[in-house]
Amino acid sequence: MARHLITSALPYINGIKHLGNMVGSMLPADVYSRYLRQRGHDVLYICATDEHGTPAELAAKEQGLPVADFCARAHDAQKAVYDGFALAFDYFGRSSSPENVEITQHFARKLNENGFIEERAIRQVYSPADGRFLPDRYVEGTCPHCGYDKARGDQCENCTRVLDPTDLIDPRSAISGSTELEVRETKHLFLLQSKLQHEVEAWVARHEDDWPQLASSIARKWLNEGLHDRAITRDLDWGVPVPADTWPELAAEGKVFYVWFDAPIEYIGATKEWADQDPENRDWKAWWYEADDTVRYTEFMAKDNVPFHTVMFPATELGVREPWKKVDYVKAFNWLTYYGGKFSTSQKRGVFTDQALDILPADYWRYFLIANAPESDDSSFTWEHFTATVNKDLADTLGNFVNRVLSFSKKRFGEEVPAGGEPGAAEARLGEEIARLLAEYEEQMEALQFRKAAAALRALWSAGNSYLEEKAPWLEIKTDKEGAALTLRTAMNLIHLYAVVSEPLIPATSAAMRGAFALPDDTATWVGAEEARALAAVPAGTPFTVPPVLFAKLTDDDLAAYKERFGGEEG
Ligand code: 2FM
Ligand code: ZN
Repeated sequence: MARHLITSALPYINGIKHLGNMVGSMLPADVYSRYLRQRGHDVLYICATDEHGTPAELAAKEQGLPVADFCARAHDAQKAVYDGFALAFDYFGRSSSPENVEITQHFARKLNENGFIEERAIRQVYSPADGRFLPDRYVEGTCPHCGYDKARGDQCENCTRVLDPTDLIDPRSAISGSTELEVRETKHLFLLQSKLQHEVEAWVARHEDDWPQLASSIARKWLNEGLHDRAITRDLDWGVPVPADTWPELAAEGKVFYVWFDAPIEYIGATKEWADQDPENRDWKAWWYEADDTVRYTEFMAKDNVPFHTVMFPATELGVREPWKKVDYVKAFNWLTYYGGKFSTSQKRGVFTDQALDILPADYWRYFLIANAPESDDSSFTWEHFTATVNKDLADTLGNFVNRVLSFSKKRFGEEVPAGGEPGAAEARLGEEIARLLAEYEEQMEALQFRKAAAALRALWSAGNSYLEEKAPWLEIKTDKEGAALTLRTAMNLIHLYAVVSEPLIPATSAAMRGAFALPDDTATWVGAEEARALAAVPAGTPFTVPPVLFAKLTDDDLAAYKERFGGEEG
C-alpha cells in the first residue's frame, strides 16, 4: 500500500477565504485524502496558514493589533471555518511556527554552503520618518501610466501595470504618509536560481508527463523564460529572521526571509509541528527526508501557484543538496468565477466560506463545488445553478431515495430490514450496474478527476432511483409482499453502499446514512466489486431508523434571498 503525502496550498492569513479558494486547493485535497484513507492507504494531509509578508502586516495594522496577535486570532478563525467544512487535515499548522523558522533557516544555510545564495547590494526606498526601508507596496503615489493617485509601488490597481516604487510620481510612505523618501543602498540575499536552471529542467522533464497539462504547461513556460536570481529577504518586522550565525550583518539589520521563501517550506514545517504535538508522530521525517518510493506526494493548488510549486520550490529543494521529498503530482485548478466575474477577497465579491456555512451545512457546498470544480476550464458559480443542483442531485436523487425507502419499509414491515424474496433478474442487473459505476468512480478518483468522480457518484445514486421506479414496491406490496421486501432490502443495501462511497464528498450525510442501520462493527472502509454486486451487506433483521430529511429543498424564495444578499449579477 502506498503512503500518500498530501498538501494543499497554504491559505494567506489575512482574512477568511471565499469558495473559489476552497474549491481550488483544500476541498479537493480533503476529498482525495478521505478517499485514500477509506481504501486503506496511509495518508498524511497537511496544510497551514501562510502568515508572513506585507499583507499580514497591513491587515494587523488595520485592526490595530500586533501582527503576532492578529495572526494567532486569524489562524483560529480560519481553522474554525475549515472544521465547519469537515476538512480532515492530519495537521493544520502555522508558517510562523518555531518549526518552520528552524527548517527555513536550515534551508538557507545549506543553500549558502552550496553556493546558491549571494549577498547583493540593491537600492531601495527608505523612509527616515518611519525609520525603515519600505517594501514596494508600502510606497504609494501617482501612476505614471494612468495618473491614478493611489498606485502602489508594486502595481497600479487602476491600470494593473506592474510598477517599481521609483516609477511613482510624488511617492509617499503608506505607513506615515511621509513624502521625505530617500533611495538608499541596502544588502539582501539572492537565491541564484539561474545556477539551478538545468537541474530543475531535468527534474521537470522527468515528471511533466505524469502531471496534468495545466501544471506542466505553466512549468514549461517559466523554464523557457529562464530562471532569474531573486531576492529572498525583505525589510519587515514580521517573518523568519535571517540567521545571525551565517549573516550577522543582515540579521542585525532585522532582515527576514521573503514570504514565498518560507511558505512552501512550511509544508515540511507543519509536518514537524504535527510530530511535536504528539509523540506518536515522531517518524515525521520518514515522509519527507530520504522518503522511499512508497511515499507519493500530491500537491493541490490554483493555477497562479503552479510556478512556485513546479519550479521555484523544487529549485530550493534541489539546491539544499539533501534528500527532501519533491512533489510527484501537481493537481492544479482554474478559477471558480462568481457570475462570470472574479471572486475577490479585497472587494468582498462572491461568497465567503464562513457565510456559506451560515446558510447551509458543509455537505451542500462540498458536493456542489466538487461536482463543478474548475478543472479543465474556469467554472462559474451562480445561485441558480447552486440551488438547482442541490434540489436535483442532493434533495431528489439522494435524499428523497433514502427517505422514501426507509419510511415506506418502516410503515409496512417495521423497524428491521425486511426478510423474504430471492434476488432475481432486476437485482442482478442492478448489481452489475452498481459494480460498473463504482469502478468508474474509483478510476476517476484515482485519476484526480473530481468532476467526473462526482458524476459517477451521482450515477450511482440515480441507479437506485431507476431500480425503485422499475420495481415500484408501493404497488408490488399489494400483490407480492415477499417481492416488496426484497426490493426494499436491496434498496437499503444501496443506501448503505451510498453511505460508504459518498463519504469523501459528503461526510456528514454519509454518517447519517450509515448510522441508520444498527450494524455491529460497521466502518466506512471501501466496498469491493463483489460486495457491490451482491448488495447484501445489510442482512434482513438489521434494526434501522429513519434519519431526518438529509437535504432541504431550496425554494424560489431562498434563491431570491441569496441573490439579494450577495448580489447575483455580473460585477
Ligand atoms: O497564493 C496563496 O494563497 C499562497 N498563500 C499560497 C502559498 S502555497 C505554499 F507555498 F505555501
Ligand atoms: Zn495606472
